[in-house]
Amino acid sequence: MSKYYLTTPIYYPNARPHVGSAYTTIVCDVIARYRRMCGDEVAFLTGTDEHGEKLQRAAAAAGESPGDFVAAKRELFKKLWRDLNISEYKFVHTSQNPDHVRSVQWMLRQANKNGYIEKKEYEGRYCVDDERYISDGAEPANCDICGRPAELISEQNYFFKLSAFQERLLRLYEERPEFVRPDFRLNEVKSFVKSGLRDISVSRRRIKWGIPWPDDPEQVFYVWYDALTSYMTGIGFQSEDPARQAEFQKFWPADLHMIGKDILRFHAVYWPAFLMAAEMPLPKMVFAHGWIYYEADKMSKSKGNVVYPEPIVDALDSFGAPGNDALRYYLLREAPFGQDTSFSYDALIQRFNSDLANDLGNLVSRTVAMLHQFSAGSVPPAVSLKNQQGTIQLITAYQEAFERFDFSSALSFVWGLISEANKLIVQAKPWELAKSASAADQDKLRETLYITAQFLRVISVLLCPVMPISAKWIWKQLGQTRDLEDERIDDSLKFKFLEPATKVGKAEPIFPRLDKEATLAKLYELAEADMEQDKPKEASKPVQIGKPTDSSPTPSTESRVSTPESRVSTPESRAATPDSRIPTPAPSQISIEDFAKVDMRVGEVVSAEPVANATKLLKLMVDIGAEVRQVVAGVAEYYQPEQLVGMKVVLVTNLQPRKLRGVESNGMVVAASVGPEGRPVLATFKEDVPKGAKLK
Ligand code: MSP
Repeated sequence: MSKYYLTTPIYYPNARPHVGSAYTTIVCDVIARYRRMCGDEVAFLTGTDEHGEKLQRAAAAAGESPGDFVAAKRELFKKLWRDLNISEYKFVHTSQNPDHVRSVQWMLRQANKNGYIEKKEYEGRYCVDDERYISDGAEPANCDICGRPAELISEQNYFFKLSAFQERLLRLYEERPEFVRPDFRLNEVKSFVKSGLRDISVSRRRIKWGIPWPDDPEQVFYVWYDALTSYMTGIGFQSEDPARQAEFQKFWPADLHMIGKDILRFHAVYWPAFLMAAEMPLPKMVFAHGWIYYEADKMSKSKGNVVYPEPIVDALDSFGAPGNDALRYYLLREAPFGQDTSFSYDALIQRFNSDLANDLGNLVSRTVAMLHQFSAGSVPPAVSLKNQQGTIQLITAYQEAFERFDFSSALSFVWGLISEANKLIVQAKPWELAKSASAADQDKLRETLYITAQFLRVISVLLCPVMPISAKWIWKQLGQTRDLEDERIDDSLKFKFLEPATKVGKAEPIFPRLDKEATLAKLYELAEADMEQDKPKEASKPVQIGKPTDSSPTPSTESRVSTPESRVSTPESRAATPDSRIPTPAPSQISIEDFAKVDMRVGEVVSAEPVANATKLLKLMVDIGAEVRQVVAGVAEYYQPEQLVGMKVVLVTNLQPRKLRGVESNGMVVAASVGPEGRPVLATFKEDVPKGAKLK
């Protein structure tokens, strides 16, 4: 039996977990279940990352102490993991945890002893949201993760000599390319490291909510140094309990850190360097998966487009469909693992109906019903399975796909087995064979029934890691009494056959076909009720998650300028579509720093063309000196494309990209909104101004 230790990232407990956070945990649960069924002894770690300025601020905003705040939020994660049927895991939390304080301080002392820590003055730009230094010096800079302007800070703190590890890291990537997966992420990491590594500050003076720096009460640890070390604390490192210490000895190093693409650098560059500095063994693999977007947009609470798992599960459950399994199946099957994917209710229902209700559901109900009808409710005598080659190949292909975390393909191989079984039934027509008196036909009938049931046996084993509830249900209908999770997914599966004469269970439909309209209605209803309950009382009305956006473009800064009828009424959109007849309330005052967050540049329109199926939108290419930006502007009713070409306009360049009618917009052209209908009049210049000039 070999050991397998895998981790999810530890989550920031500043907000309730959404489908994006659930994604990594579900994927890890699928891997943990798979490895257990391969016979491995598995340790599966998840947890919460509770220190740092972001949490300190969130707690203050909630009027709570950081300790109370994170302890309460931590429970939301544990509850969701229960609701999502996440199998046995260990949970680590980083605050109020003496083992963890010992682990982090131990790592530091080792690095210090080995000469990798020094104290010096730092001045730089720091992103509070992502808790990372963005650049040295006072020059303004934006965070390259969230795009927001970084704050200028200066402090005496301790530095980790990351630069000393450049060569060793490059050697690691050469010698063990599986250290970073998928391959294209390894290339990203390599070029980042090749471009040169700067030493990083690993302590903070400004933050109080953190692990104390040994021998310097003024400083706490940088949250990432603390967070990454939790992968060791979580399996017993520095525990005072000898049994937990033994656990650490058994399970470290981790076999897999599963993470989202946004935190790759921390895991593939900083973490191995911290471990090398402390002379600790390195994890075997860091796998960075893609992100789940909502209609190609980043989920964000402020945009009201966050998808939560609970209402989805509840909505599907209310139709008698196993919601939990269906969500897991959809997330793993829909997109090649590693790539980004867009969440859509339509696609979820479509997958459910075609793959689960149609293909799998039909196979199960037909097979069990036929065993009752034509074989007295039991498995017929075994037949010699001559043509096993196809099945064996599909099982092998599934195993290989699973080993490289290609879940979508692994599942497609299971669907290969399902389609083989369905084809066999259609071709052999057991209902006709049953009517025949010939001995050959009776043999053929028994053979067909046996092989079909045997297919189902294999299918339930292979589906168990992804859809444990449904797989167990099929297993039970096949009359199996052993715990399905005790079955092995290894070569023995290819030669394990159903025991003849086993009494099969009652035929029960497991995947009822979903009516699209009724299911969508339920999904919206529960998602909205859920968000309503979740949002602070003064917050705006949420976007109706998943509702088709066919009638009007997704609300965006651009559409707000010229589409006052925008169906989503948020305080923001109301403020952006002023009606000159109604006195506008004085806008609230902002600081000069707030204003400086908006990056506005002079741009020249180099081309303009209508957007298909949108009467109000034009696609503009705007040259802002350093680059040409594509933006979508809601001005088509008032400007001809040729009027705009050559015009100097004002472009807001640091808005998050949005898609309008499927066309990406990377900025906003500034316009006055004139008259009751909000006619857009583009801002321009009387004098000739160079492209790219900044507006201040
Ligand atoms: N606390 C750090 C991780 C420290 S690990 C030592 C952190 N936390 S997080 O809560 O912001 O993110 C946790 C994980 O959720 C990350 O892997 C991130 O990529 C993932 N996701 C957050 N939103 C996501 C989607 N919309 N889609 C997929 N994964 C996403 O980063």
